[in-house]
Order: sequence, then C-alpha cells, then structure tokens
Amino acid sequence: MRFLQNDLKIKPLARAETIPSDWYTDPAMNAFERKTIFDKTWQFVCHISKLSNPGDHAVASVADNPVLVVRGSDGSLRAFYNVCRHRGGPIAVEDGCGVKALQCKYHGWTYTLEGHLRGVPKFDRTELFNKKDYGLVPVNLDIWDGLIFVNLDEKPAPLAKFYHGISERIHPLKLEPMRFHQRVIYDVQCNWKVYVDNYLEGYHLPFVHPELCKLLDYAQYQTETFEYYSLQHSPITPEENIYTSGAGTAFYYFVFPNFMLNILPGRLQTNLVLPLSHDRCRVIFDYHYNDTESEIARKKIDDDLKYSDWVQHEDITICEHVQKGLNSKAYTKGRFSVEMENAVHHFQSLLKTYYKKSQSRSSKRKISK
Ligand code: FES
Ligand SMILES: [Fe+2]
Repeated sequence: MRFLQNDLKIKPLARAETIPSDWYTDPAMNAFERKTIFDKTWQFVCHISKLSNPGDHAVASVADNPVLVVRGSDGSLRAFYNVCRHRGGPIAVEDGCGVKALQCKYHGWTYTLEGHLRGVPKFDRTELFNKKDYGLVPVNLDIWDGLIFVNLDEKPAPLAKFYHGISERIHPLKLEPMRFHQRVIYDVQCNWKVYVDNYLEGYHLPFVHPELCKLLDYAQYQTETFEYYSLQHSPITPEENIYTSGAGTAFYYFVFPNFMLNILPGRLQTNLVLPLSHDRCRVIFDYHYNDTESEIARKKIDDDLKYSDWVQHEDITICEHVQKGLNSKAYTKGRFSVEMENAVHHFQSLLKTYYKKSQSRSSKRKISK
C-alpha cells in the first residue's frame, strides 16, 4: 500500500482529521491490514470456561488462517494451525468437547491432543516418512483473566502488556470465574474500522439509539485512553440496569485492534470484529455471566440478549449507511469532536502507528537487498 505521508501523521485531537475514506474502501487495504495488524496482534478465541476438560476444542479464523485451540490430556491449553500436514485438510470444522484425539476431516490422519501425528492410514509404502516431522504447527497462546488469545507472530510481545491495568481498574469484578453462555454472530456490510469507530463514541447515541439514551445519564459518561486500549464508563443504578441487581460501574473497553469488553457486575459481553473483505466484517458477540442457572438470572439473560440485539441492529444500520457515504465522491476526510471522539482519534492514531511500522520494515528490507 502507498500512503500520503501527511495522512500518516498523528496530530493532536483538536487539529486532527479522520483517516481518509479510501482506507475504508480500497480492496487492497484488506491484505495490507492482515499482514500489518491481524498477523501481529493478539486475537481473542474464547473464554476458558468453554474449554474446561481434556479434548475440548475451539476453532477460530485469525487473519484468514484456520486456528484450533485444544485442552490437552495434561490439562494444558495449546493452539495450532487447524491445518493437516498431509494435504491441508481441516482438523476440526467446529467447536467440540471431550475428544480423545484430533482427526483430520479429509483422509482421517489422527493427531494427539498435544499435536503429535499418531495415525496415518495406508501409508506403509511411503518412503522416507517420519511421523515426528508432521506434527501440527503450533501457534502462540496466552490467557488474560480467563480469556484465551492467540498470536500468529513468531515472537509477540506478552499479552499482559496490552491489557495492563484493566484487572486493577475493574476490581473487585473478575472475568475468569464467569461462564460462557452463548455466541451470536452478525455479518455487517461495512469495513471493520467503521464498526470500531462507531463503538468508540457516544456522540451518536441520541440519534441512533434514542431509547437507550433515555436510560443513561450522559453527564456521567466518560472516555479515557491508554496505551493500547480505551475505556468508556458510566455509573449504573439498579433502576436503569437490566442486567444486575446492584449499582456499580459499566465498563466498555476497546483493546486494539478489534476487541471489545463490555463489563457489568456479573456479566461480560465480548465483541470481536473480523474483517471479511474491504467492505464487510463479522462481529462475534460472546455472552458470559456469573449466574446462568437461577430463574431470575435466566430472565435477565433473556432480556440482555434481546436488548443487545436491538441496539446492535441500530448500529449495523448506521454503519452500513456510513460505508456508502465513505465510498461516495462527496467524502474524503472529516474532523473530531474533542469532547466526544477522543477514543476514535486514539484508535486511528494506533492504526497509523502500525501502518508506519510496516512501512519502515519494508523500507529496511529494500535497503538490505
Ligand atoms: S489432508 Fe488431512 S488426512 Fe489428508
Ligand atoms: Fe451504537
């Protein structure tokens, strides 16, 4: 990708322009961002409660690479490319539990839960073939507060660096003891960054979510930015809170580049935003709760799912309109509200930092040739 150097400059919020519209609409951006951002950052897979026992496994797509996370017989979690070493078949096509071994869906090669090749049908006459050389290819895995992440980079910085300070801030709330309840998937006709930008500001709430707006006290709504994440937070009271029975704080974290943690007492909803193409993305909502059993909890969960789905559809509708606007001849760049859009500016500044890093890597490669 070629960029105008001026577009990559990071300016103070009050003077900055939004990123140019072709970063949202150029088909070439998809492959560029896969290489510069999604190949290099920690990507969420699922909560540990989904993989409690040996043989439990979850599939994910990371920068278009099929990935598999599995709990081994020894109790450890491991991640692999979900790609058979025979001819590239899939080891698992969906999440599952309690399997004794991993079996490729193409010709049935089997691997142990630790990724070693074990069973190879009808291979007796193949020469110079050693099963030891054909284990599943491992992927880096790390866990933060019960959430499992993978990273395709060979030597990634530790996950804790990116999440530093969040556990302390939400204390005494803890995410690890929660239980995964349900996954809901939305496909949206917009570039993934349109969806992220929209998440990062409350400026649109009176116009896009008038009903939600009546429930919240905007004077109390605040946005703070940190090195790799931003936080929107507001106090909640029992009356305005459909999820829990006590007052507290609602925390809405965005962690660069594509992950959101919506935390309320007793409830965690995560949103993962995956690019599908330059003008389509998939948003995966995972719902987790402390209590999923009692009758009152089940009623609240039901309300939560319905309410979130309704708000999500309002956001999808506006994001799809915005994608068309960005793609129009009328628009190239806009400006930011200093009061309301500091987290959008923060996200877009991090994007520029990652784009620039890749530019300096490729110019170093050219020089060394
Ligand atoms: S591709 Fe997996 S067994 Fe052939
Ligand atoms: Fe919204």
